[in-house]
Amino acid sequence: MKTILVTGGSGYIGSHTVLQLLEQNCNVIVLDNFSNSSIVSLERVAQITGKSATVIKGDIRDSACLDNIFTDYNIDSVIHFAGLKAVGESLEKPMMYYENNVYGSLNLCQAMAKHNVKNIVFSSSATVYGDPVELPLHEGLPTGTPTNPYGMSKLMVELMLADVFKSDNSWNIVLLRYFNPAGAHPSGKIGEDPNGIPNNLMPFITQVATGKRKVLKVFGNDYDTHDGTSVRDYIHVEDLANGHLKALDKIDTACGLFTCNLGTGQGYSVLDIVSAFEKESGRTISYEIAQRRGGDVAAYYADPKLAAQELNWKAEKGLAQMCADSWRWQSNNPEGYPTT
Ligand code: NAD
Ligand code: WQD
Repeated sequence: MKTILVTGGSGYIGSHTVLQLLEQNCNVIVLDNFSNSSIVSLERVAQITGKSATVIKGDIRDSACLDNIFTDYNIDSVIHFAGLKAVGESLEKPMMYYENNVYGSLNLCQAMAKHNVKNIVFSSSATVYGDPVELPLHEGLPTGTPTNPYGMSKLMVELMLADVFKSDNSWNIVLLRYFNPAGAHPSGKIGEDPNGIPNNLMPFITQVATGKRKVLKVFGNDYDTHDGTSVRDYIHVEDLANGHLKALDKIDTACGLFTCNLGTGQGYSVLDIVSAFEKESGRTISYEIAQRRGGDVAAYYADPKLAAQELNWKAEKGLAQMCADSWRWQSNNPEGYPTT
């Protein structure tokens, strides 16, 4: 039985991944400081699976905490989700992002090296491509310059991990570049639970649907896309979670440094998402056209071929399912997880 340390395992993508790891009978250790999540997510994962992860409240920046974990448990691999992810906040508080995301990741790698655990799957982002020079985005393209400290922090960790591998090629490092996660577990028990006003499109729409927010602002309708609104590659969180299990299989083949997109290859505009959501939920989403949001680009979507070839992974769930599952989660939990 594999023992997997999952940092940030109580968060949106982490909790869906922990669920699948438990279903595959892995021994799962979660390290989370709960700065952006609730332990209730993991309690619900235990209800759904009938199995529990070991949960440690702690911080990836805390070397003593990491030392204890690597001493107490025989960790095979680390899936590293822990980090801050709000683009706007990162522009206001860049140092907080570099400390949490870059220093935190460095500290984690140092602990791993010290304890001779050299297998890691890292949550990177399509943001590392910067302004798309061609579409679809494939892994052979050079990385660009992300327009915000959050994106820079992801690129910096990618570069750091590449140097770690260069210095010691006994590491196995999978850099997963996620496109836009959406959806929730079909039980409606776990899902995305942002603090305050959602930055991302899908949780904003679901909160308009419950009446918590009045109107969706569509950021620009004068882009060069089929309906003028910006286009992204939305991927169901369950597919995304499954990509991590496939990444662990890749590590079993001693893959070295491997970088891979996790996307569907299909782009949808903001208005496509609104109408798909209305169809699945039966609710009307009030929206108004607003100014473009600084830093947004017209369109990007993944080339998912490498993931199919090398990870034997492809997204199985489409937009209708993402909308239906996001809606089930939000309507069952209009205020998100209960506060404990
Ligand atoms: P999330 O905020 O729901 O989960 C992150 C988790 O990490 C939270 O539970 C939080 O409490 C924890 N955490 C944060 N800092 C920590 C620290 N210093 N020590 C321990 N725990 C800490 O976010 P998510 O959407 O599940 O994203 C997971 C990862 O994927 C993040 O690294 C994020 O940057 C990356 N990512 C997310 C998206 C997205 O749109 N959701 C896209 C690309 C990449
Ligand atoms: C999607 C589309 C908006 C909200 C961000 C990060 C990226 C990655 C995923 C972590 C865009 C439009 C949004 C709203 C809108 N995260 N929109 N009204 O910007 O593609 O990517 O999350 O790594 O790094 O930048 O996602 O969900 O914010 O926006 O019109 O209220 O919806 O303009 O076109 P984005 P998003």
